[in-house]
Parts: sequence; C-alpha cells; structure tokens
Amino acid sequence: MNIILLGPPGAGKGTQAQRLVEQRGMRQLSTGDMLRAAVKAGTPTGLKAKAVMERGELVSDEIVSALIGDELDAMGAGEGAIFDGYPRTAAQATALDTILTQRGRSLDHVIELDVDEDQLVERITGRFTCANCGKGYHDRFEQPRQPGICDKCGSTEFKRRPDDNEQTVRTRMAEYRAKTAPILPIYEARGIVTRVNGMADIDDVTRAIETVLGG
Ligand code: AP5
Ligand code: MG
Repeated sequence: MNIILLGPPGAGKGTQAQRLVEQRGMRQLSTGDMLRAAVKAGTPTGLKAKAVMERGELVSDEIVSALIGDELDAMGAGEGAIFDGYPRTAAQATALDTILTQRGRSLDHVIELDVDEDQLVERITGRFTCANCGKGYHDRFEQPRQPGICDKCGSTEFKRRPDDNEQTVRTRMAEYRAKTAPILPIYEARGIVTRVNGMADIDDVTRAIETVLGG
C-alpha cells in the first residue's frame, strides 16, 4: 500500500507516519527529514536547501522528487510507502505519478489531516525530537514517559528544529495554502481522498487513519 499524508505544518503527518511504521511495517518517506539529513551532512543538496528551509519556503521540485525516487529504489517491492510532506506542488504530484508508475506502484489513499491553523503554532513551537532515534515529542501533548529519557531508545539528548519559530511557521503555512492545498483536487478526482479530523487526540487520529486503511 502507498499513501500520502497531506496537511499543513504541524498537522501531525510525521507523528502519524511514525505510528504507521511501527504498526504496519510501512516506510516513512519524509522529504523534510531527508533534507534535514542532507543539511546536517553538508551534501550539495543540503547546501542548496539550508537557507530556503530556514525561511520556510519550498525547496525545488527537482531536488525533492530525486530524493523520493532514490528512497523508493532502496525499498523492498512489498514494502508500503507513506509520503510525508511530499508532494507539495502540482509539479511534484505529476512527478510522483511518474515515479510510482516506473516502479510498478500506485497510490491507494490520500489522507488529509484537517486542522485549525491557529492552533498549529503552539504544536510546532512545543515540538522536540530525540536526537538519537528521531522519535517526536511535544512539551504539552506528548511528553516522554520518564522526563528527559526517550521512550523508544533511552537517549537523553533531544533537539528542536531551526524552522520551528513563529515567523517561519507563518511562511510555511502560507506556502501550504498557496502551493500544496491546491493539489488536493487532483486526488479528489480519483476518489482516493479521505479527510480525517487532525485536531482530535493523537490516538484518535491514529484510529481514524487505521479505519481508512483497513485491516
Ligand atoms: P517538513 O519537515 O515536511 O515540515 P512541515 O510540512 O512544515 O510539517 P511539520 O513536520 O512541521 O509538521 P507535521 O505535520 O509532520 O507535524 P508533527 O507530526 O511533527 O518540511 C520542512 C521544510 O523542508 C519545508 O518548509 C521546506 O522548506 C522543505 N521541504 C520538505 N518537503 C518538501 C517538498 N516536498 N517540497 C519542497 N520543499 C520541501 O506534529 C507537530 C507537533 O504536534 C508534534 O510535537 C506532535 O507531538 C504534536 N501533535 C501531532 N498531532 C497532534 C494531535 N493530534 N494533538 C496534539 N498534538 C499533536
Ligand atoms: Mg513532519
């Protein structure tokens, strides 16, 4: 199964993708995570992307589509993909169709996380992740069971994203409205979009997604 999680910054794409990885053994393909890894490693892609990401703008379609193609090539044929943060423009949606067709894959579901933008700033500015395994947390909504210790790997080091400040978040949201929300009709026309209430508790959102994907 191949699915897209679609929603603005802070909608919960990464949070829900991590759960699907654990529960269903699918692979999370987050272009944001790939780009952050490239920035950290100082690759040519990372050098191009760094300032763009810090401003909250979109990196070029060619760069992100190439990253997605490479990740899919590294996956087993039977492994399902969760596209998290991709596609984000009409050009990326077109590229994804080609990328999937070339690999004998197709899209099964697009899950739209329906959220109230005003409350997303709090979600994003309170977010942090384990510096070792990447598990996501939140100051208010999802704290480690033992304070200061990652539930998943036991690390005591955590980090916050440089683009998780209010000003950059506002730019990221404007980019979403202008360039990403308009791609929804492409998938609606194919009858594969389901809207899920992304303002519910994290566990309830997971259950709603499970219902869409089925046993
Ligand atoms: P990316 O990393 O994709 O960031 P984003 O889309 O802005 O989304 P976020 O990761 O901020 O939000 P999320 O939906 O994953 O929320 P999360 O689950 O963490 O992209 C970053 C940048 O990279 C872009 O700005 C761009 O520059 C570039 N880029 C990436 N992909 C690109 C592409 N395809 N094309 C061009 N450029 C690209 O949740 C947020 C917080 O809320 C967490 O702390 C979580 O614990 C909490 N939370 C989650 N769900 C709930 C809930 N239901 N209730 C309460 N709290 C919740
Ligand atoms: Mg994310």
